[in-house]
Amino acid sequence: MKITNALRKEHAVFTAMFDELDRMLARGADLAALKAKVAVLAAGLLPHARIEDDILFPALPSLGGESGPIATMKLEHEELESGLSRIAEEPDDAKAREVLERVLVVGRQHFAKEDEVLFPMAEQILDDGALGELGASFAERRRSEPLAVL
Ligand SMILES: [Fe+2]
Ligand SMILES: [Fe+2]
Repeated sequence: MKITNALRKEHAVFTAMFDELDRMLARGADLAALKAKVAVLAAGLLPHARIEDDILFPALPSLGGESGPIATMKLEHEELESGLSRIAEEPDDAKAREVLERVLVVGRQHFAKEDEVLFPMAEQILDDGALGELGASFAERRRSEPLAVL
């Protein structure tokens, strides 16, 4: 499978988790329950971002550079990672919910940028064979870091 399609499929899994977290926030679920779901999300999302950082992005040097789209994606990965760990450690109920709301906004925007801009660019730059080889590297990495599901 092309790496871009494999990553899109994972975005759909994480988006379903975002939707569930939105519903939990809306119904006022308690903080321990929110943190438990966030831990499952983080266990899948952080390796996903590292796979992009380590496998896809280095194959796209023309999109690199300080002001290029990959720099933005990497910054957002860091923002998501720090938000997720902040939620895990945050003792204050209202603050943890506020950080979670922000993570859900940033996460959705991040997936939209990848799905609608970065991955189509990658599919223009790399041919199907190269995308398939990167997809095989992705699958190999996922065998040792399986995607967690709710
Ligand atoms: Fe990403
Ligand atoms: Fe992604």
